[in-house]
Parts: sequence; structure tokens; C-alpha cells
Amino acid sequence: MRIILNKIIAFYMLGSTLQAAEEVTIYSYRHYEADDKLYAQFTEETGIKVNTVKAKADALISRIQTEGDQSPADLFIAADVGRLEKAKEEGILQPVTSETLKKQVPAELRDSSDFWTGITVRARVIVYAKNKVKAGEIKSYDDLAKPEWKGRVLARSSSNIYNQSLLASFIANNGEEKATQWAQAFRANMAREPEGSDRDQMRSVAAGLADACIVNTYYVGLLANSTDKKDRDVAAKLTVCFPDQDSKGTHINISGAGVCKHAPNKQNAIKLLEFLTSNKAQDTFTSSNYEYPLVRENTSSELLKSWGSFKSDSIKLEKIGKHRKAAAKAFLLAGWK
Ligand SMILES: [Fe+2]
Repeated sequence: MRIILNKIIAFYMLGSTLQAAEEVTIYSYRHYEADDKLYAQFTEETGIKVNTVKAKADALISRIQTEGDQSPADLFIAADVGRLEKAKEEGILQPVTSETLKKQVPAELRDSSDFWTGITVRARVIVYAKNKVKAGEIKSYDDLAKPEWKGRVLARSSSNIYNQSLLASFIANNGEEKATQWAQAFRANMAREPEGSDRDQMRSVAAGLADACIVNTYYVGLLANSTDKKDRDVAAKLTVCFPDQDSKGTHINISGAGVCKHAPNKQNAIKLLEFLTSNKAQDTFTSSNYEYPLVRENTSSELLKSWGSFKSDSIKLEKIGKHRKAAAKAFLLAGWK
């Protein structure tokens, strides 16, 4: 009887070991429907179950630190290079080697010491009201800081990481002083104090509150393809402008991921990363969430193609991540809430 009992226990223990080997746990700040679709597809193809924990990136970093070597987190996913750099600096990630990742992700969109990799690309562009601004009138982020734009611009709060990375890129290119001056001048031109999301800025521009705003490209796509007619009407009133085409290029950022230091399922995490950066998954990110694929020439979305190709700021993303604290300070000096 005892032998049978032991066999049963051993069987169940083996079962749980096997089950553990067929899982991957993601701590993610990405908040888009496309992701769940892709995780389901990954499970179908590999048999690896995907567990997701969603929260704000900073909260996830703290949680992984608190959990220490008992953390179930295999993969940390963030929607901005600033948070990926922070996760690396806080010591919660580990470097991984994968020839597939190296092939699928251009070097400028990966950490040079392999702690994180990009998954998707987004540009932080200027969107303006078609009936208020002429084509070609805006050429640069600097234009919106000129006196003639007083009371005509909008952007969300400076606590937002997308804005911090934009300003960090200005710091990386031109130094803190010039970046602070830009933030001060832009802030002085705002039609109202910062409030709401990127989509809210566009809704306000379409409603006539301001003439132009700064937003991430995929939010334009999400409005244009919304199930809510009001949002589709908003998008129809707006034009996307890629700033700085005659100079350094438009600021781009990534959403990306890194394998956690104590990942219990490291190999599965690498497999998932390879899957998310594969052509097929990249196509889903573009067609469902209107993000740019890692290789922008592969963009399949008609909407994104309609905006045309653009020159992006070639500054290393790592460098942007490193200036995020200086950017927060510059925003504070500028009085940008
Ligand atoms: Fe976002």
C-alpha cells in the first residue's frame, strides 16, 4: 500500500515538475489587446502556458525586488526604454544570449549588454488639427515652443514616461539647458494645464481647444480604428506630422522586455521573446495595435503606410534611458505639471 502511495505521490510530483517546465510568467506594463492574442497563439504553438501579472512598471520592479530569488517572474515587459533601463540598473534582469533575437531585433533597439530587447517601436509625433494648421507649417518640436504657438499646444503630464523619454532624448542631443528651455517655452504655450492621456490630447485638439499636441503614433491608430464613432471622427480631423525630418529625426521609443534575474523558466522566457519579435507576431502588433514593427520597412498596416516613411532620431535608446532623471528635473524647472 505504502509503495503504491509513494508512486502516486511521485507521479503527482513529476506532473507538477512537468507543468512548471511548461509555463512562463510575465510581469507586464503593456496594456493592449494584441498582447493577449499573441500569448494565446504562443501557448497554442508551444504548449507553454503564459501567466500574466499586469501593473505599473515601477510597481512591478518593486514587486520583483521584494520577491527576490522566490520571484515567479520570468519576463519583465515595459512600454518604454526608461523603465527597461531602470529595471536593469535595479538588478532585476539578467543578460540572455540568443542568435534569433540578434537576427530579429536591430542592434539599436537592443541593450548592448543584452539585458533587454525591444518588442515594438513607437514614434512620439506632433498631431495637428487639419482645419487650423497648414501642411508643412510644423517642421520641428522646436516650432511648438515658438511665441506664435501661445495658447495653441497640448501635451500630457510630465510624470508620464513617454514625455520623460522625449525630453531625455533632447538632453542626449543638445544638453540639459536647451532641453529645459524647450520645456519652459512649450509649457508657456499650452492651452491648458496638462491632463489626461495621449488620446485625450487629440480629442481636445479635435474639439478646438488647441491646434496641435504631442502623442505616440499608435494612439492615432487606435482612435482611427475605434469601435466608438466619436473617436473615429476625432482621428478624421487630425494629421500626423513627423518632426525634425531635416535634422536629427523624430523621437522613437520601444516597448520591450528583459528576462528576470531569478526567472524559474528562463528558456521559456527566451522562447517567448523570440516569438514576440518574430515576423508573424510583429505583424499582429502592427495590425492590432498600430505600433511599428522592429524593422519599420516591414510595416503592413495601411494606416501606418499612409503616413509615409520617416527618419528617426538615431540616438542610442540606452542613452535616452540614462537621462530620464535629468528629464524629470528639467520638467520640474519648467513648471510642466
Ligand atoms: Fe501606451
